[in-house]
Amino acid sequence: MAVDVLLGLQWGDEGKGKIVDVLSPKYDLIARFQGGPNAGHTLEFDNQKYVLNTIPSGIFNERNMNLIGNGVVVDPIILRRELETLKKSGFDPVAAKKLVIAKKAHLILPTHQLLDAASESKMGEGKIGSTLKGIGPTYMDKTGRNGLRVGDTLLPDFTERYHKLVNKHKSILSHYGEIPDFSEKEQAFFEAIEYLKSIPQVDSEHFVNQYLSEGKSVLAEGAQGTLLDVDFGSYPFVTSSNTTTAGACTGLGVAPSRIGSVIGIFKAYCTRVGGGPFPTELFDETGEQLRQIGREFGATTGRPRRCGWIDIPALKYAVMLNGVTELVMTKADVMSGFEKIYACTHYKYNGEVIDYMPYDICTVKAEPVLEEIEGWNEDLTGIKTIGEVPEKLMNYVRYIESKVGVPVRYLSVGPDRIQTLILD
Ligand code: GDP
Ligand code: IMO
Ligand code: MG
Repeated sequence: MAVDVLLGLQWGDEGKGKIVDVLSPKYDLIARFQGGPNAGHTLEFDNQKYVLNTIPSGIFNERNMNLIGNGVVVDPIILRRELETLKKSGFDPVAAKKLVIAKKAHLILPTHQLLDAASESKMGEGKIGSTLKGIGPTYMDKTGRNGLRVGDTLLPDFTERYHKLVNKHKSILSHYGEIPDFSEKEQAFFEAIEYLKSIPQVDSEHFVNQYLSEGKSVLAEGAQGTLLDVDFGSYPFVTSSNTTTAGACTGLGVAPSRIGSVIGIFKAYCTRVGGGPFPTELFDETGEQLRQIGREFGATTGRPRRCGWIDIPALKYAVMLNGVTELVMTKADVMSGFEKIYACTHYKYNGEVIDYMPYDICTVKAEPVLEEIEGWNEDLTGIKTIGEVPEKLMNYVRYIESKVGVPVRYLSVGPDRIQTLILD
């Protein structure tokens, strides 16, 4: 058996949570492999809406197990809140034995969040627009070999280790100015650590490979999106993990040869939240319309998302980096009613016209070259079969397929689980 991967091809919020939930009945194990509670994955079914930050989006499916992998950074306070919210709605994933966590996953400390905020405030205009969840500083401690891991919570000297790291953080924070009081947060952290101990801890590399050797199916769930990848995104306006397929290997402990299908998900248009370049961004009424109709406000931070047309060079880049084998297009319903829509096919860049993602679109502007495409008018949200898909929307789908060379397998026409069509 192989590990299939589902990940975002744009700047995040493509609808990963919804589609993982839709696909989860096909899998025995769903595993998050990177990122942390900077993610907000929304699921809707039975008139209920859930936003998951750390818990994999397969959690509602009766059949499967869910793993928070070693590549994830975990905020125990947020994870506890997520679990308690689910419990209040009548479902307890821990009691149902549906959730396990990797011992090697790193912990986000309250002071990681203070460091995130201090670093952002210092940057002024050039700030990343981080979610302020402490993601960057936690990954810095991981690669700097200072971090605390989930498995460490069971060690007798965990508290001493915690204070050793916090003292280091305090000395860094003192360079930024007065250190805010975080005693309440610290107390909540230690309470949440006790709560965390109720979740079974595993070695994700053995756990996942055991599933594979028993012939069971695994889906790796990405967070963020390819254009936020720390290596290949619009650096430095990126997150701090590898959001691409390669991240699933290191974030779970599976060999590249064990990767099966790579399901790349993209919106019918583009959004971005936070700072950084966005070649097709619309600053006009059309952008505002996309934001309002698409309810483009962050699931984690509530911030308005920047909106723009589809960006083909960026999509091709993402397909190449991830080895995408099939595509999912979401939010086609949001574009209903636009007489004309546009696709960016090339960039005007440094006096040339190019069709690929260049090294630097942060200090050098990539201006979009747009192709006009006929829009569709029909309300898609009640569509149940491919036969009902408007011809002009199907033309748009075929247009994108021809540009990126990979088939669109699923079409999402609304936020609910049932608003999903298979295109083959
Ligand atoms: P994720 O981070 O990739 O899981 O995506 P988010 O949950 O942050 O953002 C996607 C938003 O779009 C959520 O509010 C979803 O409920 C919603 N959504 C997902 N697919 C569709 C769709 O096809 N149409 C519409 N209108 N909304 C969708
Ligand atoms: P999901 O999984 C959209 C963005 C932030 C910021 C940059 C760095 O829901 O798609 P960080 O907190 O990671 O240091 O922020 O990355 N960002 C996201 N944007 N969706 C996400 O996750 C994101 N996670 C981080 O807005 O620009
Ligand atoms: Mg999101």
